[in-house]
Amino acid sequence: MERFIVERISEDKAPISLLLLADPSERQLQSYLQRGMIYVAKRDEHVIGTYILLETRPQTMEIMNIAVCEQEQGKGIGKQLLQHAITTAKEQGMRRLEIGTGNSSVSQLALYQKCGFRIFSIDFDYFSKHYEEEIIENGIICRDMIRLMMDLH
Ligand code: COA
Repeated sequence: MERFIVERISEDKAPISLLLLADPSERQLQSYLQRGMIYVAKRDEHVIGTYILLETRPQTMEIMNIAVCEQEQGKGIGKQLLQHAITTAKEQGMRRLEIGTGNSSVSQLALYQKCGFRIFSIDFDYFSKHYEEEIIENGIICRDMIRLMMDLH
């Protein structure tokens, strides 16, 4: 298992370019940074991963902008960050945790389901409507937001 520490940081220390790797919308990121709890994974003082926990409704949080540095991906760090988010949301007294990803994000969809999240809805044309640049991943046009959730009790 990869060894690192996860800590909550203040908005001014947020690793912006890493957070934008997960979602290129800078305007939305600014709003999440102001409203959410920002976490980083650190190894030897280097930030290797990050995510934001945002309270979206009473007793419901959503994981935003989860990202692991490119050279550190595929080593289980993302999985451990998701586990950290689940534990943190439970400790905050939340009953439900959500996460969203694009219809083309095949490995993210696999990862989230492996961690216990279940698909509950599809926000049709979310990316086609709200993103100026067309996103293509795995040869698939990213149009829809797949929304996944986990019951925390
Ligand atoms: N089919 C089945 N499983 C797959 C898969 C596929 N096509 N692609 C990946 N996986 C699984 C892996 O097998 C692994 O699970 P396992 O441990 O059971 O084998 C898991 O997904 C990957 O886990 P991990 O190594 O912890 O992921 P990571 O550290 O690379 O972090 C991201 C995942 C998504 C955070 C990281 O890749 C990243 O930062 N990507 C760019 C930013 C991004 O897309 N963020 C999410 C936006 S919604």
